[in-house]
Order: sequence, then structure tokens, then C-alpha cells
Amino acid sequence: MKHKDFAQVIDEFSTTTDDLKQIAACVRYDIEKGLANEATSLRMLNSYIGLPDGSEKGDYLSIDFGGTNLRVGLVRLNGNGNFTIEKKLAKPLKVPGKYDYTSSTATAKALFSFIASLIKELIGSSTKKYYLGHTFSFPSTQTNIYNAKLIKWTKEFATRDVEGKIINDLLKDALHEQQLDNVEPIAIINDTVAVLLAAAYTSSNTYIGSIYATGHNTCYFESNNKYIKKPTIINLEIGNFDKLSLNDYDKALDAASVAPYEQRLEKMVAGRYIGELFAYCLQDLFGLATLPVFSSIDLSVILEDESPNRTATKQLIKDHLQVDLSDDEALAINRLADAITARSARLAAASYCGILWHIFPHGQPEHRIFIDGSLFQNVPNVTTNMQQALNEILAEDAAKITLESSKGGSILGAAVAAAMNQ
Ligand code: GLC
Repeated sequence: MKHKDFAQVIDEFSTTTDDLKQIAACVRYDIEKGLANEATSLRMLNSYIGLPDGSEKGDYLSIDFGGTNLRVGLVRLNGNGNFTIEKKLAKPLKVPGKYDYTSSTATAKALFSFIASLIKELIGSSTKKYYLGHTFSFPSTQTNIYNAKLIKWTKEFATRDVEGKIINDLLKDALHEQQLDNVEPIAIINDTVAVLLAAAYTSSNTYIGSIYATGHNTCYFESNNKYIKKPTIINLEIGNFDKLSLNDYDKALDAASVAPYEQRLEKMVAGRYIGELFAYCLQDLFGLATLPVFSSIDLSVILEDESPNRTATKQLIKDHLQVDLSDDEALAINRLADAITARSARLAAASYCGILWHIFPHGQPEHRIFIDGSLFQNVPNVTTNMQQALNEILAEDAAKITLESSKGGSILGAAVAAAMNQ
């Protein structure tokens, strides 16, 4: 193998300042088209909820459904932006060889019964009345804060009989079957909306919530637009944004995915996909007959490996490919992992700029963007790459933007939504 091959592959993942500015401009343009009800790749879903003022109080149950793990929690909102997570539980949605509630072999009934059983485990035999907020992290059309119908699975989920259904009705039936009629779902929100609600509950002046994890998506608070009757949070489903140039590895990944041509941005950015992109690159570089399996966690291991001989990188590649890397190759692997994750962070940051330009057309004030997700928290260099992209796109205005890690995330956000709707 020659170094040049690596250099070419790495170059496929580079994005220039002009590329990023172009993406930001297209995002802004598409938001404005979407608000006018014209077709764009952004779904622009009305969440039927505004921002909390921090005074919301009470005990609420929360569900966080939509990533690798299902989480449930009991949250106490104390008002004044204070909260405590009284109890929480989490279980994976799939355990290889045991069960998988995310694939097309699973049914809606089995999935929602699994969710209800985790609620049962959380509250035990208590017969107290509980109101529940549900973070359901998939594109759904809503007619109010309770009623959300799944448009289409994303993130390679394929559970049967859920698309087109009213999610909280499926949940209610499952709760009923487990004698949990004291638990009443009263609000359903996207996870990006949960991030924004959680942020707005504890801080002021925040209008953008984003998820940078298994999936990637962003919402914002639309307060002043002729097409919107009442100020509301809009779930952009920005993972579906498609004005992007794809390289050969993006194309291969897309073609083999559950839903080709969809979720183009997400497939270049999110944790569910970046390990796989890396796998396509290695398949090409090493001429492998089959596609190896790599995850975003493997990319983190490589990026964290600063040892002089790249011992961890060599070991990881040996475990996956049974190949012994030279020092130079190990270094090139590190650069490739860096290029894939840097592109991911830069594209996400460009999309944030498009949203900021829409919200603040007359100049950028100080603003905090709240971001939740394993990728944002755990992948080395993500914040630096996002910040660098903001500098390139916004120049001196970049200093007014802070990228903050969400506190409380989906579990807090769902409780806040329930409190706002009780
Ligand atoms: C996918 C879903 C979206 C969700 C995001 C992050 O993009 O379509 O609804 O917000 O993943 O979980």
C-alpha cells in the first residue's frame, strides 16, 4: 500500500471554508422555503410547544427513546430552573444474540411493551398518578403536543408497524396492558426539542438545540415569522439536508443503507455512520473483499492514541483486519479518522450558522447553542473543529457563539414538556 492512496482518501473528506459557507447559506435558504411550505429536504416539523420560563414544577416521568439505549427517568422540577433526576434506568434496544427491538423482525407491540416494562421497573408497584413526557427521536408530524405520527424511521431503525402510527397511542396501549393506567403520556417531543427545552429551563437566551450522537438533528425556536401562527419550536430534521457533495464512500454507504437517498447530512455526520464510512475507506485502501465493522467508538480510540508508536491504533486494526500496520500506516489511519470526524463536526457547525443567519438576520448577538450526545461529549477534537468552522464562516461574530453541552438532555426536556402541558 502506498501513502498516496491514504492521502487521496483523506483528501476526499476535506471541506473548504467556501464549501461551509455555501452549506450555511443553503440551510438558511431552505429554512425560509420550508416555512413558506415549499418543498425542501428539511422537514420543518412544528413541535406545538414554545419555551419554558423556568418556573415549571412537579414530578414527571420521562422516556428517552431513539438511540442505542432506551432511558426512563423520574424528574423533579423545583422551579427557578432547578431540577433533580430522582431515579433513572437504561437498557439497550438490542443485545446481539438475545434481542433486537430496532430491526424489521421486531413488532411495534414488542417494542412498546419493552418500553412499558422499563417504566414498570422504574416506578415499581406505586399507584400514584404520573404524567409522562416522551422524547421520541424520529421525524413525526404533530397536530398537537400529544399527537405525533411517525413519518419514517431513520438511523437504520426498521421495527414493523410503527410508521404512520400515533406513537403515544402505542405507548398508552402498552402501559394499559401492564396495568400502568396511572401513567399518562401527555407530551411527545423530538430529542432536539428536549435539548432546547432543558436548556431554556435552566438558562435564558437560547434558541437552538442539537443532537450530535447516533443521529444528528437540530431544532430552533421560531418566534417571528409570517407563516407561523404561534411562536413554536421547529424540528428541522436537518439530518435529511441534501445540498452536499458526496464522495465515493458516502455513496457506497448510502446505497447499502436502509433508506438510500435519505438523511444525507446525517450519514456524513452522525455516530451511527462515521465508523462505517471509515470501514468503507479501509476496505478500499486494503482491498478487502468484505466490509469490516468499525464504530464511532473505534474512531475515538484511534484519535485518542497519541503514543509514539500508535500502539492502540495498530492493535485495533489488527483485531479488526488481521493486518500489521507500519508506523507510517498507523499515522495515516489516525489522519483518516481525524479527517472523517473533522468533516462531521465542520458540516454540523455550518448547519448551525445557517440557522443563526435565519434567526438573526440583522446581526449576530451573543448566543448559546446547546448540544447533546455521545459524539459531542466523547470524540476528541469535535469542539475544536466546530469552533474552527464557526471562525471560518462567521469571522469575528464567531466569538459571540458558545457551543454548550446539554445538561439533563432528553430526560429533563421531556419532563419540562410534560409540565408545560399539564
Ligand atoms: C435522526 C432523527 C431525528 C433525531 C436525530 C437525533 O436524525 O430523524 O428525529 O432528532 O436522529 O437523534
